[in-house]
Amino acid sequence: MPSSFLHPFTSPHKDEFITITGGRGAVVFDDQGNEYIDGMASLWYCNVGHGREEIADAIAAQAKTLAAYHTFDPFTNVPTEQAATKIAELSPFDDARVFFGSSGSEAVDTAMKLARIAHREAGHPEKQIIVSRERGYHGTNYGGTSVQGIAPNREGFGQLVPDIVNVVADDDEAMKRVFAEHGDEIAAVITEPIQGAGGVWPPPDGYLSHLRDLCDAYGAFLIHDEVITAFGRTGEWFGSQFYGVTPDMIIFAKGVTSGYVPLSGVIVGPAVRAGLEANEGFILRTGYTYSGHPLGCVAALKCIEIQEREGLLARATEIGIRLSSGLRALRDEGLLIDVRGEGAIWGITVPEGVNVAGVRDTLLGRGVIIRPIPPNHLTLCPPFVITDEQIDHIVSAIGEVLRS
Ligand SMILES: Cc1ncc(COP(=O)(O)O)c(C=O)c1O
Repeated sequence: MPSSFLHPFTSPHKDEFITITGGRGAVVFDDQGNEYIDGMASLWYCNVGHGREEIADAIAAQAKTLAAYHTFDPFTNVPTEQAATKIAELSPFDDARVFFGSSGSEAVDTAMKLARIAHREAGHPEKQIIVSRERGYHGTNYGGTSVQGIAPNREGFGQLVPDIVNVVADDDEAMKRVFAEHGDEIAAVITEPIQGAGGVWPPPDGYLSHLRDLCDAYGAFLIHDEVITAFGRTGEWFGSQFYGVTPDMIIFAKGVTSGYVPLSGVIVGPAVRAGLEANEGFILRTGYTYSGHPLGCVAALKCIEIQEREGLLARATEIGIRLSSGLRALRDEGLLIDVRGEGAIWGITVPEGVNVAGVRDTLLGRGVIIRPIPPNHLTLCPPFVITDEQIDHIVSAIGEVLRS
């Protein structure tokens, strides 16, 4: 019998789960006394690692002072202002503002709404179309579902948001054709700098800068959905900096707090700001009860402080070098068809006929967590505190499972 808890992205019939009870660094424990190396930083988010008491202490101290107070007009609070200032400073924008939500999906919806309304305020209400890429994952609210590039995630939920065009993932020419056809009606293109949940697909060389050029040519905004890539995953604070392409908005979530408290947001660059600030009488009628939640904001400040203090951006790069060389050796042995990624985010493709959920389950039995992306991909996205020995253990466990 399934429990009362209806699990996300799970068959409602499933009634056996692994009960995670705790974690330290890159390891999590279950209620049966098993330990697992967390090769996925939970669900792409626990960048600074599990069990950090200083984050728990910062959250507890804030909860005792001011657990929460809303930030709709006329209120604000100190941790929210500080987190916004810090995140804006780290971003590639000269003069950014930060909108906060709780989940990546909320931030995606907000960025889509900001794109359309900023154009309207700037005198271009015809700019409505949001262009997205196949294989892209942008969350599961109706906005994010509508721009999803993973077709099964869009199906069965009824009418989605109109004026969305989904384009073949890596095809420059296809993107140019969309602009040629819809040109002046395009409000924004939304893309992950590295497509994550679709199987980890870095962009082809020059793809993102071509996208930037196209957006500029047609007056469309470029939105980078950095829910996974922000806060160090590529070895830079933002994937935008890693690829040297500055968008107009950056969506973040996950790694900003490493999941200690849910927090997400949209970093709003100068072009979108100009639209939002164009008219004195304009009120931004969107936001969430928990926009700028102080507990999330102190967790974010603490996580950023830890990343700076411990040099974790550089560590992400080192992780990538070691992990990818191990994975490439498996590919050279013929066990893998493809290895791809940057920094501390990698995807692998196994030969046809290999059951990736089965690989995941066998690896769980060997104390390793990685994520299957059917039909034939698996992903790795470890915490930045993973040790070299733990990386080697993951690689050798994958090799053993695929050899057998
Ligand atoms: C790129 C991207 N955007 C949006 C989301 C949605 O985030 P959330 O699950 O917090 O709503 C995710 C989640 O994995 C993501 O990877």
